[in-house]
Amino acid sequence: MPATATLSSAVRQIPKIPRAHWLLGNLRPFVSSPPHFLQQAHSRYGPILEVGIPGRRLISMVEPAYIQQVLVGHNRNYIKDPNTRALKISLGEGLLTSDGDFWRKQRRIAQPAFHRHRLQQLAQNMVKHTREMLQQWEHKPGFNLADEMMVLTSDIAATSLFGASVQNNLEIGRALLTAMRYHIQRFNNPFNLPHWMPTPANRRYQRAMQVLDRSVYGMIEQRRRAGQDGQHDLLAMLMEARDEETGEGMSDKQLRDECITLFAAGHETSANALCWLFYLLDQHPQVQQKVVAEIEAVLGQDEPTAGSIRGLEYTFRTIQEGLRLYPPAWIIGREPLADDHIDGYHIPKGAFVTMCTYVVHRLPQLWESPEAFEPDRFLPEAVKARPKYAYFPFGGGPRLCIGNHFALMEMQIVLAMVLQRFRIRCLPGQPAGMEPLITLRPKGGMQVKLEKRRLQEI
Ligand code: HEM
Repeated sequence: MPATATLSSAVRQIPKIPRAHWLLGNLRPFVSSPPHFLQQAHSRYGPILEVGIPGRRLISMVEPAYIQQVLVGHNRNYIKDPNTRALKISLGEGLLTSDGDFWRKQRRIAQPAFHRHRLQQLAQNMVKHTREMLQQWEHKPGFNLADEMMVLTSDIAATSLFGASVQNNLEIGRALLTAMRYHIQRFNNPFNLPHWMPTPANRRYQRAMQVLDRSVYGMIEQRRRAGQDGQHDLLAMLMEARDEETGEGMSDKQLRDECITLFAAGHETSANALCWLFYLLDQHPQVQQKVVAEIEAVLGQDEPTAGSIRGLEYTFRTIQEGLRLYPPAWIIGREPLADDHIDGYHIPKGAFVTMCTYVVHRLPQLWESPEAFEPDRFLPEAVKARPKYAYFPFGGGPRLCIGNHFALMEMQIVLAMVLQRFRIRCLPGQPAGMEPLITLRPKGGMQVKLEKRRLQEI
């Protein structure tokens, strides 16, 4: 694969992976671990291939130039894939699942809330929640880090979005997890029973959705009643936003969809990214030592601020490298609205096009010693030497993650504050592996023990 690919117009055939089963095709090997299945398949069949899955034409591409065509060059020809669209029964028509003009309008409305200068105000909220977590850690020798990070990031996401009105964000988080597990089970099973049938799984899912709706509609209703005075959170911004043409505000249903989407997209991704990062730092003490030395030089024992974290350059590269090896959004999917041609390959209308971040981030053609954890791969000259879509943990083009700066700031703050006080050690055999659900989770969580650190003794 060349570093800068020149795309061909000669007609070419997409290689098809031989079917493992006459009816199910490659469904079983694929769903047992999609990132590993695709990694092996691409090393054998090249940068684009077709996987036989019942009822779908699944085309996987890992060449950065092809990914750029789908996400940027030809983006108007692509909508979200059927699995993402299936999330609409839970997330509704929020930013993640909607398409076309409706999505464009909603994105325009939401974008200012994620502007850098607004995010700086949110840094204090991130510091506050991290400080509270660390105070509790003083009395805990060990725990499941995945749970701790999920609680922390859901507290941060919920209070950034809903301000002080949110009281039951943990309940919302748990309900969302039940809903997302339900979706994954359905994605992986071609013979699903309809949603309305009273199966145990359907009933569990319905109960979770009731919790979600009750909580979010409750907050919206409370705001409508009590007014927005003194509220500067995202819900307030969305409630005040007006359509440029009609002057109409968002309906309660639209507000509910955007809030649940932002909460869902905004906490699990960061929690998993942080968890994997602490795991990598434990595995690579020499990198951890450099990060800690930088934190000591830049912050000492002070709490970080949006301004001071800018000095944490090596720490930032370490976070980028963590997102390379364990990208929480490990796969991105699209569906072409009309036939497309990329480098001579015919991408038929209606195909399920996937771009597996996890595979691209570990391609030996793009990354020297891809399995090694080396933050200096993200020094500016090294970044410049790689093709643009060799690295895309936040996606790209118009659908680039709206929360990318939020997430990066959150990760820097949490990492710095934890490392100022503790060293996290994974227990032997932890984590047990990867669990690629909607985000890439550590399988069974991550059991760790804590060691107190005084910065001087690194
Ligand atoms: C490490 C953390 C995060 C990662 C790795 C991540 C990754 C991604 C990726 C890859 C996409 C694009 C999906 C696609 O093109 O199909 C995306 C979209 C999105 N993300 Fe994030 N995300 C993170 C954190 C956040 C946070 C903190 C928020 C909100 C506070 C957020 C909100 C969203 C939303 C609303 C979208 C849809 C944007 C649109 O299509 O207009 N994400 N994210």
